[in-house]
Amino acid sequence: MGALDGRRVLLVIGGGIAAYKALDLIRRLRERGAAVRCVLTKGAQEFVTPLAAAALSGQRAHTDLFDRADEADIGHIKLARDADAVVVAPATANTLARMAGGHAPDLASTVLLATTLPILIAPAMNVRMWLHPATQRNLALLKGDGVAVVGPNVGRMAEAETGPGRMAEPDEIADAVEALLGGAPEEKPLSGRHLLVTSGPTHEPIDPVRYLANRSSGKQGHAIAAAAAAAGARVTLVSGPVTLPDPPGVAVVRVETAREMLEAVEAALPADIAVFAAAVADWRPAAFGDQKIKKGPEGPPPLALTENPDILATIARRTEGRPPLVVGFAAETTDVIAHARAKIARKGCDLIVANDVSAATGVMGGDRNSVHLIGRDGSLETWPTMGKDEVARRLVARLGQHAASP
Ligand code: CTP
Repeated sequence: MGALDGRRVLLVIGGGIAAYKALDLIRRLRERGAAVRCVLTKGAQEFVTPLAAAALSGQRAHTDLFDRADEADIGHIKLARDADAVVVAPATANTLARMAGGHAPDLASTVLLATTLPILIAPAMNVRMWLHPATQRNLALLKGDGVAVVGPNVGRMAEAETGPGRMAEPDEIADAVEALLGGAPEEKPLSGRHLLVTSGPTHEPIDPVRYLANRSSGKQGHAIAAAAAAAGARVTLVSGPVTLPDPPGVAVVRVETAREMLEAVEAALPADIAVFAAAVADWRPAAFGDQKIKKGPEGPPPLALTENPDILATIARRTEGRPPLVVGFAAETTDVIAHARAKIARKGCDLIVANDVSAATGVMGGDRNSVHLIGRDGSLETWPTMGKDEVARRLVARLGQHAASP
């Protein structure tokens, strides 16, 4: 049984090299049980054919606003209504601009203007087009209209440039569709729960232009937030500075420093489950000046540090308003399990996810993770190396079991 059983997705395929991935998306959505009907823009047809979309979806693909056969058969208004969600993948800069401006010169944009269904867009475009203020402005308008967004991811692009602009992978988009639509209640182990996640590094200012930071990318924490939302939780993600897109369906609070993170976490309580995945800086510069520190004949300035609050320990040790399930992470480079066990006791959490972050493992900033799950009762489980998304899904499933047992 698929998580999208009985669901109908209208997939609008935009014109871009990522259109070929939209064909794979049709397959992934169908594997999860969804029925998929496609609309291709004129640009999309430069990259993939309506025939390919029809063959993969098992339904006729639509292309023209003024196709008499089409209008007699289903019509653009019916297309806009006869589904449970509309997914736009790839969503080009032009499609975003049309959607934000309410323009409807072709079938795809007309359907998008006529629909009242939930819409998910998977942007894909050149880095500079993505970062252009006009695109970002359109994106903000669309988010304000309630459009859900997945991606874009950071990576190498067709033009050999690197940066944000790559369309999210088909499985990520299918996950986002699941999060948007929700499954049957029994597939939502965290429905009705509030889950709080911290993610990313913190930046601790030295002066107005310099800061102390670490190599955390936020990938694991963000993946947990996304997986928890897909599992039906209301999710608050408190994130340090990262370059990742906001996970769909998650309330994101952005912070810079450890002290701001603690404040945001406290403001987000109460929560049923709190997962502290952030790589919080243990120390911050003791003094912060308003002026840039200048080079001088006296040589480099001493960098005196002072300790940051321990967010996990502060929350886990609360006597009032402690989330019933508090999960910490342990980033270690030696004696992973022994150190992680000591951390559970020291910080007072219920469960710890321990990982080896030595440079050779590539975990910090990478896409894969090898973790051990250690319980307060001394239990130990070692998971095989897998993608951070998979770690997140498994962890969330585990949290669902904890949350279900009294
Ligand atoms: N943590 C936190 N606030 C801090 C430091 C850490 O909330 N100021 C949380 C992390 O989010 C993680 C856990 O504590 O869940 C362990 O973080 P880690 O960096 O592994 O441990 P440290 O407390 O920094 O201990 P050590 O430096 O000894 O490894």
